[in-house]
Amino acid sequence: MPFKVAVLPGDGIGPEVTDEAVKVLKATGLDIEFESAPFGGAGYDDCGEPLPAATLALCQASDAVLLGAVGGPKWDSLQPLTKRPEIGGLLAIRSELNLYANLRPAKTLTPLIHASPLKEGRSMMDLMVVRELTGGIYFGEPRGRRDDGNTAFDTCLYTRVEIERITHRAYEIAMQRRKNLIAVDKSNVLETSRLWREIVTEISTQYPQVSTSFMLVDNCAMQLIRDPGQFDVILTENMFGDILSDEASMITGSLGLLPSASVSDPKGDIVFGLYEPVHGSAPDIAGQGKANPIAAILSASMLVRYSFKDDATADRIDNAVEKALANGTRTSDVFENGCQIVNTSEMGDAIVREL
Ligand code: IPM
Ligand code: MN
Repeated sequence: MPFKVAVLPGDGIGPEVTDEAVKVLKATGLDIEFESAPFGGAGYDDCGEPLPAATLALCQASDAVLLGAVGGPKWDSLQPLTKRPEIGGLLAIRSELNLYANLRPAKTLTPLIHASPLKEGRSMMDLMVVRELTGGIYFGEPRGRRDDGNTAFDTCLYTRVEIERITHRAYEIAMQRRKNLIAVDKSNVLETSRLWREIVTEISTQYPQVSTSFMLVDNCAMQLIRDPGQFDVILTENMFGDILSDEASMITGSLGLLPSASVSDPKGDIVFGLYEPVHGSAPDIAGQGKANPIAAILSASMLVRYSFKDDATADRIDNAVEKALANGTRTSDVFENGCQIVNTSEMGDAIVREL
């Protein structure tokens, strides 16, 4: 039986980078059946909804979802908010598919060491942000306005169950890595953070091999720049994870390099997941062939690793990316003197050649 992958290219540079990820998956020789569906602004334009019912049904009938990016100025002022690609599309699909665990690895790629803005002598970075994805201030009710629109409020809400399940996932990942977990919060101010700390402290006793510590989010933002090599697994809530993962991406050299996996509870042996670059739809460069497809291609590699459980093929993809970069093939975001500047699809071709 072939694997079934739902492809949701979305908006902006989403379709360009997703094409390259599909190209690479096809080149691996794996038996995969792809089916595309409209999503995000494209879903709204086609069907009046950023997450059309047929798109959600396709995802539910697939082994994994490969997503590009959503959003753009065209849809930024749609009302109600649930028509907007970010809220009615991305947040809705994460919630509908119960994808509460967002894994965002950030690793220094040796050929791009000079693209990193950090000074010489910095430590190599190889960390995993484990971001809670379906709770917190992104989803808490009530939210809204009062005083004729002049006062606005959001609610940050976490339940014990939500914190426990993501904490277990983070420890399982730490056990497979360097066994160091740092839980990041703002417990000197926020009640939700104090509950996180209590629960992480309780659960830590079940993983005595893992060293556990806590860090405040502002300090973490600073420590990431000062010494990114100190981190192995960063466990954090939804919004802090959003911000810290963008910061970590830039330390690798470009936001165009970071993949992500969003997964639910494993059902027996099966890990259903949605795989997408950490970057957004970049409307300013859409359709120009300038986008770096590496984040999307590394997301495809995570799909193969987690949902197909095929580490060998995932390693082949990761190595092909590294080799293509080492050969000096570069999109403009990570260009250096002496390298050859290529467009999105040529970057994909160069990676396919290395496979
Ligand atoms: C991300 C994005 C989304 C998020 C936006 C587009 C809603 O920034 O995946 O990191 O904040 O989760
Ligand atoms: Mn983000």
